[in-house]
Amino acid sequence: MNTTLSAQSQSSDDIVQAACKSDVASIQVLLNHYASLGDLLPRTKTDIIANLEHFRVIKRNNTVIACGSLEHFTPELAEVRSLMVSAEIKGGGLGRKIVENLIETAKDRGVGRVMALTYVPEFFHKLGFTTVNKDIFPEKIWGICVNCYKFENCDEIAVLLKLK
Ligand SMILES: CC(C)(COP(=O)(O)OP(=O)(O)OC[C@H]1O[C@@H](n2cnc3c(N)ncnc32)[C@H](O)[C@@H]1OP(=O)(O)O)[C@@H](O)C(=O)NCCC(=O)NCCS
Repeated sequence: MNTTLSAQSQSSDDIVQAACKSDVASIQVLLNHYASLGDLLPRTKTDIIANLEHFRVIKRNNTVIACGSLEHFTPELAEVRSLMVSAEIKGGGLGRKIVENLIETAKDRGVGRVMALTYVPEFFHKLGFTTVNKDIFPEKIWGICVNCYKFENCDEIAVLLKLK
């Protein structure tokens, strides 16, 4: 375990910032970890790079310790994706910090609805999201989920935050 991280769960220096190309490797380390546990869907390096402009990160010592992205289906509907916090500092408020930043970004862009598919709906409920039927997001199901290995037996829960 990384003792530096575990000793300091949240620091006032933890600022949320746009991701840059040098963050891709550490985003992928985090993603591979949670994908191997089945918590998150795997993404290729190419996919992360193609969507890098949507990622927000928190870094310590030039390493990403928390991140998430806000990706659009339409100008009105966006999704929180690849949300994760380094295992040593889960529960320290960084997930909230990332999602609050993504919500502010969504508001600035005039997005009406922010959704996510998740195994931790309770976390999203704390941030004002409600659980909904995932059938209300055909853009997600037929645009992305259809290519996922879990498509036939997806047990993720859909959550939604209405901004308008
Ligand atoms: C889910 C995750 C991003 C949350 O980030 P975090 O930094 O651990 O959570 P925070 O400390 O910001 O928690 C914010 C609130 O949500 C609650 N919460 C966090 N994780 C929770 C969980 N798994 N179940 C229930 N509540 C949870 C916290 O208790 C806190 O409540 P409070 O405001 O009343 O104190 C993080 O735990 C993680 O990376 N998990 C593994 C990957 C994953 O599942 N990502 C989500 C994909 S949609």
